[in-house]
Amino acid sequence: MAILLPGGAGYIGSHTAVELLNEGKEIIIIDNFSNSKPEVLQKIKQITGKDFKFYEMDYSDRASLEKVFSENKIDAVLNFAGYKAVGESVHKPIEYYTNNISGALVLLDVMRKYNCKKFIFSSSATVYGEPQTMPITEEFPTGGTTNPYGSTKLFIEQILKDIYKSDNTWDICILRYFNPVGSHESGLIGEEPQGIPNNLMPYVARVAAGILPELSVFGNDYNTPDGTGVRDYIHVVDLAKGHVKALEKLNKENEGIYIYNLGTGTGYSVLDMVKAFKQASGKEIKYKIAPRRAGDIATSYADPAKAKAELGWVAEKGIKEMCEDSWRYIEKNS
Ligand code: UD1
Repeated sequence: MAILLPGGAGYIGSHTAVELLNEGKEIIIIDNFSNSKPEVLQKIKQITGKDFKFYEMDYSDRASLEKVFSENKIDAVLNFAGYKAVGESVHKPIEYYTNNISGALVLLDVMRKYNCKKFIFSSSATVYGEPQTMPITEEFPTGGTTNPYGSTKLFIEQILKDIYKSDNTWDICILRYFNPVGSHESGLIGEEPQGIPNNLMPYVARVAAGILPELSVFGNDYNTPDGTGVRDYIHVVDLAKGHVKALEKLNKENEGIYIYNLGTGTGYSVLDMVKAFKQASGKEIKYKIAPRRAGDIATSYADPAKAKAELGWVAEKGIKEMCEDSWRYIEKNS
């Protein structure tokens, strides 16, 4: 029985593929390389010493997807094929809703046809909008997303809840990621944003490497200890391991729908991250204070207690490893 990973050549998908292979699982990756490179597949094999099947295709292409399901016995699907650039989603809402939502619906429909009902969904802390208190538990209300990307996460969560309500033989896990950063310690796979990065860590790494001249710190007048935005950065390898634990949970429990925050429970400010990256890289990181970015909130960090209690999962890697591993990847690959 294989585990299907649409988008498995991407940043989070590739790290999860490595952890699943390390656990001795059989995986199948499908990807259209819209935001990843074919070389990643070889690197996953190099890290793990394991082989897997690959199909180059769009995950929302029903005929190709049916072919994958008819040629293989697929037990579970972990979907990493969503578009994820917030700014781009504002300019391309139709593309975002089509790829993320229509794509997920095609996938879920084909899964149902082949009686494969275990599904793990990559959601985001963005579904909590702007919470009034911290840390954020899974019981906090959702809604108030400020861009189409965030809304696709929110809407797919609702779709999954409705699907489970209609047929409770589905076995669904929604993972709400906080801020994934870092790379595999080998330096072989990592985050490869196209063009100028929007997210903090890839931007900082490129300033340290001399690829970009200077970081803009978006606001230093937030109600936080140093005035800059505070986030729960989580090492991507810890995040990947969270998926392995979620899959174990679906395999051993009765059918159900489960929701977990995947974060460390600790918040770091933009300036904390700049300082840690400077230490890890030994490079100066030039920055200037710029106006706040529209749609940003002051603080966001998880209460990860539910994932610990129910999945037996805790994030093990700290800020030092996050920065060192990001730096190793950029040094090796630029
Ligand atoms: C962003 C998205 C979120 C998405 C996540 C995916 C927004 C508003 N939110 O989260 O929906 O799930 O990415 O990884 O885009 N910062 C700077 N300078 C920069 C870049 C960022 O100061 O050049 C600051 C931001 O203001 C924020 C922090 O760094 O305080 C983290 O930003 P970022 O990495 O973009 O993540 P989020 O905004 O938390």
